[in-house]
Amino acid sequence: MQKKHGSEKLWGGRFAEATAGSVEAFTASIHYDSRLYKYDIAGSKAHAAMLAAQGLLTAEELASINGGLSAIEGEIDQGTFAFKRELEDIHMNIEKALVERIGPAGARLHSARSRNDQIALDLRLYLRDQCDVMVRLLDQVRRAFVVLARRYLGNVMPGYTHLQRAQPVLISHHMLAYFEMFGRDRERFSDCKRRMNLSPLGAAAMAGTGLPIDRAQVAKSLGFAGVTANSMDTCGDRDFAIEFVSCCTMTHLHLSRLSEELVLWSSQEFSFVDIADTFCTGSSIMPQKKNPDIPELIRGKSGRVVGSLMALITLMKGLPLTYNRDLQEDKEPVFDAVDTVSASLAIMAELLGNLSFNTERMQEATRTGYITATDLADYLVLKNVPFREAHGIVGRAVAFGIAKGCELEQLGLAELQSFSPVIEKDVYQVLTVEGSINSRVSAGGTGILRVREALDLAEQQIGMGK
Ligand code: ARG
Repeated sequence: MQKKHGSEKLWGGRFAEATAGSVEAFTASIHYDSRLYKYDIAGSKAHAAMLAAQGLLTAEELASINGGLSAIEGEIDQGTFAFKRELEDIHMNIEKALVERIGPAGARLHSARSRNDQIALDLRLYLRDQCDVMVRLLDQVRRAFVVLARRYLGNVMPGYTHLQRAQPVLISHHMLAYFEMFGRDRERFSDCKRRMNLSPLGAAAMAGTGLPIDRAQVAKSLGFAGVTANSMDTCGDRDFAIEFVSCCTMTHLHLSRLSEELVLWSSQEFSFVDIADTFCTGSSIMPQKKNPDIPELIRGKSGRVVGSLMALITLMKGLPLTYNRDLQEDKEPVFDAVDTVSASLAIMAELLGNLSFNTERMQEATRTGYITATDLADYLVLKNVPFREAHGIVGRAVAFGIAKGCELEQLGLAELQSFSPVIEKDVYQVLTVEGSINSRVSAGGTGILRVREALDLAEQQIGMGK
């Protein structure tokens, strides 16, 4: 059954027949873009205020528009607003309700505006707020790392390359590595916000408008730093959304690497970390299991975030200027990236507050694996042996140790000297884990002097300074 034409649709005038139900179902976005209602209403209020200042609305009309929009917002807040699929999207649901509520004044609101610049506005306003949310969540995670770095300052663990024990490091150094990674993510989000913080409103359908509008006033009242420069670019641009989701992707990659380490470290093979019972789950069949499901799920969710980025990039590729309906497909990936990354950051911050390191076991792991071999090579360099030669000497000493079944510091002085005559008694200091760590005072190194400085700085940055 077809509906009578012109009854509901705000664009119904040109149409002789009603839209097919299947088409309404296929084209509607209200089931997900209703999320933008607050931004849509804020944008409409700013637009109406400007229209009134320009003499395109009377003061009474403005007051009635504002009252109507506030009432609609209240209903949506309360969950009593009836969204209609046949009204397609959030813009037309709100506008139609406004006209029904306040009459002719409502019908003047859309002057000098199109849904093309309206959706660009709503999405920018929404993502601008989400940048702040991400920054706040990233700071929670970074704070958790600073707390761990302070708590375990002085404790050692093996540092890995190729997941093979490489050189001993301070646990705090490892924690502060993540502080840096998430710090870059934070910077990316604030940078992304700065670039997107321009008002698209007034680009109208794509060519601008002949009505006497004041774009700068609207921009100012919505807290934008200015207005976008080109109306065609403005209506077809989703760079800001792609950039935002790419910041999400980078953040989630870091979360995933961290999760991978937590999964490894909580295995019996490593036993480096204990995640509190409240943050683990059990197995329905194996009574002994305590599984690190949270980091596993975060790691698994990487695919969704990367997928959202791919969806957006693919969506934009090959789109001619300016607005195309394809662009409606931008919202679900954006929302999914927001939901996934913010939930993962929040739970990760909590989880970091609920884990403890098995410091004895970690220290134990630095006792084997010839982990101070590089220190022996450096020792020889200081005694004027060329590094390549030193590398060979130590390699032979390690092979000897492996054959004999002992670590370098367990070899006798005479045994060590058989590999190089420059080796003296002071070598044993160099072969200790503590000696190794404390020697690494190069900028950014794991020596306790450097790590203390880095930790102080981190505390200052995050507002935890003493
Ligand atoms: N729901 C649309 C979107 O998300 C809003 C803009 C539609 N514009 C149009 N001329 N059909 O992109």
